Amino acid sequence: MGESMLGLKRTHYCTEVDEQLIGEEIVVMGWVQKRRNLGSLIFIDLRDRSGILQIVFDEKDLDNKDFSKVESLRSEFVIGVRGQVRKRESINPNMKTGYVEVIANELRILSEAETPPFAIEEETNVKEDLRLKYRYLDLRRPDLQRNLLLRHKVAQSLRSFLDSEGFIEIETPMLARSTPEGARDYLVPSRIHKGSFYALPQSPQTFKQLLMVSGFDRYFQIVKCFRDEDLRADRQPEFTQIDMELSFVDVDDVIDVNERLLQKVFKDALDIDISLPIPRLTYQEAMDRFGSDKPDIRFGLELVDISDIVKNCGFKVFEGAIENGGSVRGINAKTCGTFSRKQIDALVEVGKTYGAKGIAWLAIGEDGTIKSSFTKFISEDISQEIIKAMDGQNGDLLLFCADKNSIVYDALGNLRLEIAKRLDLTSKDDYSFVWVTEFPLLEWDEEEERYVAKHHPFTMPMDEDIKLLTTDPGKVRAKAYDICLNGVELGGGSIRIYQKDIQEKMFSALGFTKEAAYENFGFLLNAFKYGVPPHGGLAYGFDRMIMLMTKEDSIRDVIAFPKVKDASCPMTDAPGMVTKKQLEELGLKIDENKE
Ligand code: AMO
Ligand code: AMP
Repeated sequence: MGESMLGLKRTHYCTEVDEQLIGEEIVVMGWVQKRRNLGSLIFIDLRDRSGILQIVFDEKDLDNKDFSKVESLRSEFVIGVRGQVRKRESINPNMKTGYVEVIANELRILSEAETPPFAIEEETNVKEDLRLKYRYLDLRRPDLQRNLLLRHKVAQSLRSFLDSEGFIEIETPMLARSTPEGARDYLVPSRIHKGSFYALPQSPQTFKQLLMVSGFDRYFQIVKCFRDEDLRADRQPEFTQIDMELSFVDVDDVIDVNERLLQKVFKDALDIDISLPIPRLTYQEAMDRFGSDKPDIRFGLELVDISDIVKNCGFKVFEGAIENGGSVRGINAKTCGTFSRKQIDALVEVGKTYGAKGIAWLAIGEDGTIKSSFTKFISEDISQEIIKAMDGQNGDLLLFCADKNSIVYDALGNLRLEIAKRLDLTSKDDYSFVWVTEFPLLEWDEEEERYVAKHHPFTMPMDEDIKLLTTDPGKVRAKAYDICLNGVELGGGSIRIYQKDIQEKMFSALGFTKEAAYENFGFLLNAFKYGVPPHGGLAYGFDRMIMLMTKEDSIRDVIAFPKVKDASCPMTDAPGMVTKKQLEELGLKIDENKE
């Protein structure tokens, strides 16, 4: 049951009502946040998109004197109120509208509401599953409203910046062919072409390159992408990219326009000044210093290579790792030297979850006494040399990993993050951007026993490394770059191959025959026969950008209707079964024996 709005027209959003309006008649509409009865007075906190306004109902001021209607109000009822603005007696300086209130002359109950499954409040400890089942209620909460509003603001700022730089917004198909981004595809069966499938795009990669061939010169799109991969806090099966491509550019041109884009967007949306240029690390530097290709540079605790010091130290664990082509590296966990044995063991366990067989440690007490898991195996001199190399001071804890490099980087890189968390070394107010450049072009895939593209097969090798493509493919560095923010990969891109001979070498390094390459990417390779400008681009994870800007821990909090861990939607119950008829039309049969 709900009354009509006839004759009642909203004049203000709740928080637009201020001292300037004292004495005036206004009409506001929204949801009942809270009701307080004070005998002959009833106070209502009215909530709309803008915030909260206090309404006072006093029987004597009501046109129809119908106080029972006011008494029937409950949380989340939708109401319209006509009344006079007046100065508040008990001022609440913490509220935007804390100096005024509205004394009501007319109440309309536009819609009643059942008691919601959870209270609509800012800070909530309601389980996320329940919040997502009732997402439309969850989205009433002010924090989520703010997140989506900021998302909108950022999108506007981006569009206006990219437009001013000559980028043209062009849409690309959702029903497409499989793209080479490397995750599993979401497939859509074709009714007309039975047995054939569209793939939802993992990114508009091939289309944006074709737009360069078509001469659009600069393209952008804020676009949904689909990847069927294991979900995490910063991964969704469908997510949004800010995607761009530019013609006649090299690495520095793409970086330049994107630095200015980030500066503009952070200023517009958060009033934060980002100083340019953003620091750059090569991939190798990032790995050697931070153990990660998405380094969090807000704090130190950098990795130190002690392989040279310990290569003949007599400790089999260290020597063995180096003999097998690996290394021994450490981090100085600084003030953790006074950690108890239990606390140290906990850090060792963290290292082990990232594949380390062990983490050797050395704790220097406040008085300089040394406790260690491994110094008994090596000479005093070498111990001292290690401490010196690690800049070990009284009170420091040194942690070491000996293994093949990939494990050393991963274990120490993650230990570094864990220690920073325990020592509270980072602040979400601190936005530390860093470019990571010169990524390896190829990566060895142990399972497939062949090289795979680290970025995608159209990524240009660095000029000086092209000759290595046929002789030592693993060593080739690419004109590929990522932009990282506080340890999160915010975006990535590359300069593309536009020459046929280099593309063929690339495909052959990837183990593709010419036929296989044409089967997969024939449309692109054919297009490249007709005049292709040198080009390159980049794509940001839009959700991740907003997550960091709103200081949330998960991209689910900046997406209106996200999916949960198993890629389902608790609100709509997607994915759902379809009818037998629908399957028949598509020529599909479900194998009941298969889970
Ligand atoms: P890439 O695969 O690196 O590059 O993707 C670009 C950015 O998209 C974000 N991202 C995701 N965000 C949420 N959920 C996911 N599942 C997810 N996967 C990726 C990341 C990432 O940095 N076509 C190329 C770009 C180019 O070369 O121009 C591409 O898609 O923030
Ligand atoms: P062990 O001889 O196996 O008792 O190891 C002696 C010390 O070396 C212990 O502190 C182990 O945790 C540590 N250790 C074992 N394997 C490694 C490794 N791969 N890297 C670093 N330390 C290790």
